[in-house]
Amino acid sequence: MARSAFLHPFTRPTASDFVDITRGEGAVVWDSEGNRYVDAMASLWYCQVGHGRHEIADAVAAQMRTLEAFHTFEMFTNDPAEQLCERLAALAPMPDARVFLTCSGSEAVDTAIKFARLHFAWQGRPERRIVVARDRAYHGVTYGGTSAQGIPPNKENWGPLLEDVVVLDADDPIAMKDLFADRGERIAAVITEPVQGAGGVYPPPEGYLRGLRELCDEHGALLIADEVVCGFGRLGSWWGSQHYGVEPDLVTFAKGASSGYLPLGGVLVGAAVREVFEADDTRVLRHGFTYSGHPSACTAALVNLDILECEDLPARASWIGERLFGALHDLVAEGLAAEVRGEGGVWGLGMNEGVSAVAVRDEMLRNGVIPRPIADHTVAFCPPLVIDEADLDHVVSVTRSAVESAADP
Ligand SMILES: Cc1ncc(COP(=O)(O)O)c(C=O)c1O
Repeated sequence: MARSAFLHPFTRPTASDFVDITRGEGAVVWDSEGNRYVDAMASLWYCQVGHGRHEIADAVAAQMRTLEAFHTFEMFTNDPAEQLCERLAALAPMPDARVFLTCSGSEAVDTAIKFARLHFAWQGRPERRIVVARDRAYHGVTYGGTSAQGIPPNKENWGPLLEDVVVLDADDPIAMKDLFADRGERIAAVITEPVQGAGGVYPPPEGYLRGLRELCDEHGALLIADEVVCGFGRLGSWWGSQHYGVEPDLVTFAKGASSGYLPLGGVLVGAAVREVFEADDTRVLRHGFTYSGHPSACTAALVNLDILECEDLPARASWIGERLFGALHDLVAEGLAAEVRGEGGVWGLGMNEGVSAVAVRDEMLRNGVIPRPIADHTVAFCPPLVIDEADLDHVVSVTRSAVESAADP
């Protein structure tokens, strides 16, 4: 059979069986055969405001008719990029932030790693370049993010990876303390997701993130919060860092920033880094992407922010969480699943020994729900924040019947 020319991401190159998604509205999408699915993953953890928002499409179309794109290197700027950065700086979980724009979360992560190293290099401390990350972390697929992530299969065969990146046990504050005691003078930054997403949906142990902040302060290192999944209301606050009471130095974001209507990500740059960057007027920030500050993408993000604010969508995360946690916890209590983990609007259901998360997903797909099988035999849920009660109930009942049939095939 002739293969499609499209080589799919994170897919077997020999795969030939695809679901052709053609249309979306709110938390629902349809395929080319007319099948209806509740999108229980906000596509890939990103569609906060739901599908089919005409106000975003209309604003982007108007922007494209006026100026589709123009770069922002050197002396050029544009109003949507300026406005978006103002809005994001005002929302940032730390004071006096500035905003660097990218097209994706991976680019944001690589930018944050480079900025952390530059922060020390420009202070005459280039040896201070170790980046510390946590096991189970997912930080994207460019070389910085691949090096810093803690999902071993994603790191195989691409080497050599970035030097001076150390990945530690995810939940062990002692290992972190020991590393700082040993090499604190050479550590530039620690990078962590507030809730680890693609690595299995793991919230941090109680007090862990505040402990990290204290350790970084004690040793003069930077704390990078990778908020690509947790940002823009996923945990109920605008940022996961706020949810856990932590003020990071750098924040990476993407996904919910535009709800995926056009690709957009970036880094919030806090006061410590910004002061160093602004200290010498002769220096040039030799980093940037062709599409950093793309006006049409920024327009999509601006309307997305309007929707998040006007409809108070971050507040819906805790409602989603209560409903999902309750239902998933019942499955665990009945012995149908091993574990439920999550926070706000992002949850993972750990399968019982011998039960395949892929098989559960396939069964759910047949019954009109799209979850995502991820690491550690987990089925993940991260629905659009606009999901309504009927669709959430459908997710819950289809999950139950899929794990029941997996338990008794
Ligand atoms: C926490 C985190 N960081 C970074 C990324 C990479 O983002 P992208 O796929 O947009 O490059 C992801 C993607 O899922 C993510 O979950």
